[in-house]
Amino acid sequence: MKLKVAVIGMGGRGLFFCDVFSNNPRSEVVAVCDLDRKRLDAVRECLGAKTAYYQDSLQMLSETDIDAVVVATNDTDHKEPVLQVLQAGRHCLVEKPMAQSLEDCDAMIAAAEKAGKILGVGLELRYCTLFQQMKEIIDRGDIGEIKLGWVVDNVSVGYTFFQRRFKHRSFAKSLLLQKGTHSIDLMNWFVGGNPIRVYGTGGLDYFGGKESPEKTCPSCMARKRCPYAPAALEYEGHCGVTLSNPVSCVFTSDVDVHDNAMLNVQYDNGVRTTYTECHFTPEYSREFTFVGDKGKIYGYYENTNFKIRVSRRHKEVVEEYTPPFIGGSHGGGDKGMIETFIDACLKGSEFIMDGLAGRNSVAVGLAGDESIRTGRPVDIC
Ligand SMILES: NC(=O)c1ccc[n+]([C@@H]2O[C@H](COP(=O)([O-])OP(=O)(O)OC[C@H]3O[C@@H](n4cnc5c(N)ncnc54)[C@H](O)[C@@H]3O)[C@@H](O)[C@H]2O)c1
Repeated sequence: MKLKVAVIGMGGRGLFFCDVFSNNPRSEVVAVCDLDRKRLDAVRECLGAKTAYYQDSLQMLSETDIDAVVVATNDTDHKEPVLQVLQAGRHCLVEKPMAQSLEDCDAMIAAAEKAGKILGVGLELRYCTLFQQMKEIIDRGDIGEIKLGWVVDNVSVGYTFFQRRFKHRSFAKSLLLQKGTHSIDLMNWFVGGNPIRVYGTGGLDYFGGKESPEKTCPSCMARKRCPYAPAALEYEGHCGVTLSNPVSCVFTSDVDVHDNAMLNVQYDNGVRTTYTECHFTPEYSREFTFVGDKGKIYGYYENTNFKIRVSRRHKEVVEEYTPPFIGGSHGGGDKGMIETFIDACLKGSEFIMDGLAGRNSVAVGLAGDESIRTGRPVDIC
């Protein structure tokens, strides 16, 4: 039996889901929805007449035989479609960040419980081989009980957020939600507790500036020597749909999100961690260190290049692992996420990126952002 999937939101990410679910032998894309008719017309050329096309998600849910729905709308617009899907008795996979408020996360979790359906959150890095192996090592007790940790997001590609609406708080709320949510989720997962208190500092120290909010690359005299100007205005996204590259200047005066942040996080199991996010590092990588009462684990992620080092107190031997890259996007995590989601919907098996995981990562991001703005520690409720 094939899983009948629908996708809401035909942006870059929604098109990715259309591509992978329509090419997976265990699933089919029976319907798609976007408010924008032009996006629907473009994707119709790829998916054809076997898929139904809607501008209204409620109409789609009432007219089509669907098992599961992916919600890949903008960060600001996750709640309504997720509630519609769950209230219509379908499984749901919502993209990260789960929401921009804890109230919205809680409403989604309550709706999933009431419906008895899966509510998954797109935190696919949990299925990357690096992080799977780190979790296995931690869970089998190699470093003992985790006491503290430090996590660093080196986001050389962070400039792309400043070329898009994410540079505005009114759209992104904070890059701790839009970007940090993945590594924060992994940190929460490894720690094995719920975050309860966050103290943070942060700044806007590289992007933003004095340029006019209207300034774009095509109109800029410096575009040929600017490292942030895209080489082309368009690119071919999944399903062969042409998408636009973002071109807003990264140095405009209207930027009001931070481009770096450092958070101290306390957990209900006594663990303490720090999380650092920087959007102007030369390299794009993630680093995770945890210290337990028996040893220490370090994990390094660079797209397809993974390393783990485990050392133990009073022992000279350092164990090194290089987990394989299995192919696919997001360190291979997307592959694992898709297969596990299909299994969970068809066979009732576990889907580890659940509503609580989504809520906990949002909670740290929101509390961190509030703490940066107020200068005070923020308790998570
Ligand atoms: N997990 C990941 O690694 C990952 C990667 C990229 C994006 N994302 C997330 O995926 C989501 C989508 O990102 P994107 O880059 O594709 O965005 P996008 O802006 O390119 O596309 C969003 C689409 O949703 C449509 N839309 C908005 N509200 C709608 C509604 N109520 N009903 C139907 N359609 C609606 C818009 O018209 C638009 O076409 C975001 O939440 C983003 O954070 C996650």
